[in-house]
Amino acid sequence: TQPLRVGLAGLGTVGGGVIKILDTNAALIERRANRPIEVVAISARDRSRERGIDLSRFAWVDDATQLAARDDVDVVVELIGGADGPALTLARETLDAGKSFVTANKAMLAHHGLELAGLAEIKGAALKYEAAVAGGIPVIKGLREGAAANVIERIYGILNGTCNYILTRMEAERLPFGEVLADAQRLGFAEADPSFDIDGIDAAHKLSILASLAFGARVDFPHVACEGIRAVESADIDHAAALGFRIKLIGLAAAEGGALFQRVHPCLVSLKHPLAHVDGSLNAVVAEGNFVGRLLFQGRGAGEGPTASAVVADLIDVARGEFGPAFAMPAARLSKLPPADQLAHEGRFY
Ligand code: HSE
Repeated sequence: TQPLRVGLAGLGTVGGGVIKILDTNAALIERRANRPIEVVAISARDRSRERGIDLSRFAWVDDATQLAARDDVDVVVELIGGADGPALTLARETLDAGKSFVTANKAMLAHHGLELAGLAEIKGAALKYEAAVAGGIPVIKGLREGAAANVIERIYGILNGTCNYILTRMEAERLPFGEVLADAQRLGFAEADPSFDIDGIDAAHKLSILASLAFGARVDFPHVACEGIRAVESADIDHAAALGFRIKLIGLAAAEGGALFQRVHPCLVSLKHPLAHVDGSLNAVVAEGNFVGRLLFQGRGAGEGPTASAVVADLIDVARGEFGPAFAMPAARLSKLPPADQLAHEGRFY
């Protein structure tokens, strides 16, 4: 059988993880994918950086956007990041060439998801992004496949590991905000620009993708009402605890009265709710379906192993020929919907 030949753009933590999983679990992945999955060409900013991986077996490509046109590449994995720039050029060129595209890039999908989904559809290619939302947690597949029979009534959760880590340690160890943020950066789960984490933007990117899937709506990041955790102080955490609550940065989307509500902000979460006990850098997503009831997806939302695991799962789908629309509805139908309404913040207890 023909192997699925992968061009890999970006060799940071996650890119290295993808190579390691494909090597370590090669036999199992081949059985599940019905054919081998092989990285053939790679591109990264710095060729000489020590990564503990032998790169000599791959073709090296200086300009990542050239991966799309290579005859020996069937599918491109994009782990460069950034909403625009080379990641977006690579996405467009790959899909335009009729090749499938796997990405962990939530910012790009939040801004350009509809355009890319439309391109994938026209060209008969797959656009896969399990790793873009909540890292290793299979929430995209859970919604698209597992909960496909349901009307989703609400979807909400802890979508940023950095914020959850900061809030957890501020409460448990009584540490100040700045000190804990520096640890999150050292541990490697904060974004390159940590303001994306602490101002809620990263969570809002992910929420806009989840909302599109859950409600068959356009990806509409500009209309996510968004507030991060900069203003949360230890005293707030203490007062919340005295009342039986924890403070968590929650992203929530719900369709009510024909409008889509999307918001990210710190919330008081009752200790009786499972989200109150999702600690450290973990993520969790709750989806409420009209037949299945409440689903809770929980796990590691960042880091090498979890995020690379989601990327490889998408590659297995592509190898098997499992495409389907990128979102819950074909892009052609999504593009006809009006955008979501801008919302004022609304305090809400769960
Ligand atoms: N900076 C993100 C987080 C990484 O902290 O959750 C995964 O998107």
